[in-house]
Amino acid sequence: MRVPDTSKQMLTVVLAAGLTAAFSGILCAQFSRPAQKPKGPWMDASLSPDQRASLLIAQMTLDEKVSLLHGSGWGALFAPPDSLPPKSLGNAGFIPGIPRLGIPDLQMADAAVGVTHASVFGRYATALPSGPAEAASWDPAVARDYGALIGRELRDQGYNMSLGGGINLAREPRNGRIFEYKGEDPVLAGKLVGAEMKALQEQGVIGDLKHYAMNDQESGRNYVDVKADRQAMRESDLLAFEIGVKESGVGAVMCSYNLVNGDYACENSYLLNDVLKKDFGFQGFVVSDWGGTHSTVKAALAGLDMEMPTNTYFGEALKKAVDSRQVPESRLNDMVHRLLRTEFAVGLFDRPPEREAPDIFRGLEVAERVAEQGAVLLKNANRQLPLSAAHLRSIAVIGSHADVGVLSGGGSAQVDPAGGNAVPDPPGANIFERVVWHRSSPLKAIRARALEARVEYNEGTDIAAAANLARQSGVAIVFVHQPASEGRDAPSLSLPGNQDALVAAVAAANPHTIVVLETGGPVTMPWIGEVNAVLEAWYPGIRGGEAVAGILFGDVNPSAKLPLTFAKREADLPHPKGTPQPPPRNAADLRELFPGFKDNIRQFEVQYDEGAKVGYKWYDAEDKEPLFPFGFGLSYTTYAYSDLRLTGSKPETVSFAVKNTGDRAGAEIAEVYVTLPAAARERFKRLVAWQKVPLAPGESKTINLVLDPLYLSVYSDKGEWELVGGEYKVQVGGSSRGPLLAGTFKN
Ligand code: BGC
Repeated sequence: MRVPDTSKQMLTVVLAAGLTAAFSGILCAQFSRPAQKPKGPWMDASLSPDQRASLLIAQMTLDEKVSLLHGSGWGALFAPPDSLPPKSLGNAGFIPGIPRLGIPDLQMADAAVGVTHASVFGRYATALPSGPAEAASWDPAVARDYGALIGRELRDQGYNMSLGGGINLAREPRNGRIFEYKGEDPVLAGKLVGAEMKALQEQGVIGDLKHYAMNDQESGRNYVDVKADRQAMRESDLLAFEIGVKESGVGAVMCSYNLVNGDYACENSYLLNDVLKKDFGFQGFVVSDWGGTHSTVKAALAGLDMEMPTNTYFGEALKKAVDSRQVPESRLNDMVHRLLRTEFAVGLFDRPPEREAPDIFRGLEVAERVAEQGAVLLKNANRQLPLSAAHLRSIAVIGSHADVGVLSGGGSAQVDPAGGNAVPDPPGANIFERVVWHRSSPLKAIRARALEARVEYNEGTDIAAAANLARQSGVAIVFVHQPASEGRDAPSLSLPGNQDALVAAVAAANPHTIVVLETGGPVTMPWIGEVNAVLEAWYPGIRGGEAVAGILFGDVNPSAKLPLTFAKREADLPHPKGTPQPPPRNAADLRELFPGFKDNIRQFEVQYDEGAKVGYKWYDAEDKEPLFPFGFGLSYTTYAYSDLRLTGSKPETVSFAVKNTGDRAGAEIAEVYVTLPAAARERFKRLVAWQKVPLAPGESKTINLVLDPLYLSVYSDKGEWELVGGEYKVQVGGSSRGPLLAGTFKN
């Protein structure tokens, strides 16, 4: 399929992507199960995935091999519905299978925070809380539930490959896609995405990790050349991928749009061949981001295995390159092998997706639990929270459409809102401009808990009216929000519009003001000293209103900790100015988001010279005080740490006791940081281990954590991980800053 090439067509089809009703043409799409039951020696499930793939490849013609290595069009993203391939399910990507050999169609769906485009078929998919909410749980069990749910709902709809698994680090905190990712720390992000992808693949759906690599900003994402040294990359962004790949055995990695040290990520031999395939031992296939392929021979030799979503470089051109031996046949076979061994390993041949109505109840339950486990209590002065329904006579609920819903993140990760957008889109909004609110009303959930109180809503646009309502109420709960989307970075860390002024005015009118944040990532809070309580709910998903109310009223004791730093001010960031661009408004802007359109290549460099000092490491090294540090989060109870003991050697075991010193049951996330010996020349500590510990009032538990030597190592000039000799400082506590137990061990 040809990508539409005039501006007018482009804009028309983009708008069509939002109008799902127009997709009736693909309602007849088939599912990806091959028509006849596959036969052949490769169907012997007692053989290894590699053996099965080799047997199958031996049967394939050159045309058949090439046909599996590229997509068939822009799918539901840009294609007019009547031009979709007949069996495509209408999501981001489709590659027809080979029925004579029983090779299934590959049906790919964007699914970072839930399955997208479900409404194309009039179906439901659960909108989960955003990535930082999942990461703020610090809990692999939560990540597993998250991945299993997405995998299951993909399977129910006939998809056999997910395009989720985003783990770009929050190096640039204004990045518009932070809501898809898992914070700023490589170990936390890598471990959680690993747990998520493992659980997703157990559902018989191929997972992927994206966007590989250094795609840490949306501004200029197609032509920014990221400059960073290898040691820094290996110890930061690439480490997150390394852990994610190793923990999950994920089947696919999506290379990103940007360039890294002069080469596009999708034709960057260092990133793909040397690091991902050789060093990490990745056995799956590398798929390009949509339109992120820029060559045939260079990309194929650099390690790209699949071009998506079109066939510009990996269709006829690849065949010719193999015929002319510019790409060796062995490399072509390697590409196909990587794909087929993954399909065998994940179960696409043996356990194809079967159509099932999604279990809505399970979806709602998981979404609410993740939101509860992910909302971070940032401030609670004078024990403002939890609210006591029995004692409250009146509550003012203000702002952010809290009467009808909760915010979500935009772009290719946007999950269709069940029942439609709770706040209708402005006419003509494109997919990167839409601001979608899920129909989970915080106001309703608050009213349900405060049956005796007068609960009134003010939309917050008229600040004086909002302050007036606050003045007449026992407590004021102000909801503030920061919309975010793929395709644009936030212009600044400030809340948009009049929201800072709104909070200040409400706080001046009512000494019992509580702020609930619905943000993609961190924001500044000039009013922090004026309010009693702050709860960061992120984008809390389809049960967000209920989860927030549950925490405000103490049905749930908050336990989450920040997976990223909140800066006090923009000037404290490694790149105070950043390179923010306005959201795409017209066809020309939209073209810039998709590099398939070659006429717009205007490369520029971004020097990530902070290197591995991402997030809290930057604040430590630069002696800067954050507004809220990484790892921070309050509870309605209190915890005490004691008895730090360091035992064993290589690996080192850290033991300590955590006690619930308050009068409510809770769960404390206990964090272990290590500062490397002076010879490593790092002026920061690293998160190396943690555990979430449930504790009854008064209960104490001893925690033993074994330190993974990889997390203590530096990536040397020799291209190897090494443990530096000298004294390692261990710190243990409930935040990256604050009271921490300390001890040392020697290597
Ligand atoms: C995004 C990817 C996404 C792909 C397909 C791209 O614009 O960067 O994350 O998976 O589109 O929708």
